[in-house]
Amino acid sequence: MAYKRIPLKPFPNGWYTVAFSHELKNGEILTRRFAGKDIVLFRTVSGALAIIEPYCPHLGGHFGTGGVVEGETIKCPFHYFCFDAKGACTSTGYGTAPSKKLQVPVWHSAEKNGFIMLWFDEKNNPPAWEIPDEDWTGWSEPVLAEYEFDSHPQETTENSVDFGHFSIVHGYTGVETLESMNTDGPYMYARYAMDRTADFVGKKRKVRSQFKANIHGLGYSLVEAEVPELGLEFRFTVMAIPTEIGKLIMRTSSRMKLMKDFSKITPLMNVLPKKLANHLILKNAAEGFAHDVKQDFVIWKKKIYIDPPILAKGDGPVAKYRLWTQQFYYADSVQPDYVPHSSPDYVPHLARI
Ligand code: FES
Ligand SMILES: [Fe+2]
Repeated sequence: MAYKRIPLKPFPNGWYTVAFSHELKNGEILTRRFAGKDIVLFRTVSGALAIIEPYCPHLGGHFGTGGVVEGETIKCPFHYFCFDAKGACTSTGYGTAPSKKLQVPVWHSAEKNGFIMLWFDEKNNPPAWEIPDEDWTGWSEPVLAEYEFDSHPQETTENSVDFGHFSIVHGYTGVETLESMNTDGPYMYARYAMDRTADFVGKKRKVRSQFKANIHGLGYSLVEAEVPELGLEFRFTVMAIPTEIGKLIMRTSSRMKLMKDFSKITPLMNVLPKKLANHLILKNAAEGFAHDVKQDFVIWKKKIYIDPPILAKGDGPVAKYRLWTQQFYYADSVQPDYVPHSSPDYVPHLARI
């Protein structure tokens, strides 16, 4: 039997993190992949952010290949026409007046929590909802990571409600659902508790952790984790971006609530400079998080999407989750179906060019 590995539309509507904020400084340009094509990010000299289509509407030069930021504009390398952060042409390379028709399409973008995000809507509608800006007062700087593999954002996000795999894939014990899936429009959350053996500065210890997975669409999940017995609090962000049909980049960020007293972990840590002690704990936690995410990769890369799934008692609210995901696709979507990237049937998505 031939399987279509993931028979879902490849690019769900929603917010996607296309870069970490620190990757794009004032006056810089970045080219990234999103939905099967290039996007160009630039930050003007004063700091305004824009994400634009890569091709210059004059004669088609690629802004990301030889373009430069000049003041509040990006300058095309081909004939030096300049475009502002709203996409309007402000000057030509000849000192003549530009046509008003010279307008480069601009993506809706936002910058929150240290991430540069793009709003994707297949019909080009403006953002229907926003990602919350968190208060990071008292929190550490993030430990960031980036992974690239074959999957789909709906598949990776399903992980948070797939309670059944927690003990089997990740080896957690005592898994308990504190609150099953709750939804509010494009937002949903679930809370659970579990025991996990963690490495605390060279000392293995089994600790009970509580998690709240806050999921905003299929591209942005903020997992709040707490280990009350040790006084630890972490925030892990998981952001999957469909770069090509069937391919994604997952960006992650780990932060901890900075601690002043380490007695609950080990009194020995109180003799270390606080900055170092906090750093060691966060490093351990980020490594543990990366370890667990990589356990999922092995499954995600090869699994197929069974629809409808045949569920058993012990499974999480997978069916409810899949109904909730429907809101991120248009019923009359014209996106090509998922085809494995390496397949000869692969067709690049050209809808927005
Ligand atoms: S193609 Fe961009 S300035 Fe001519
Ligand atoms: Fe998992």
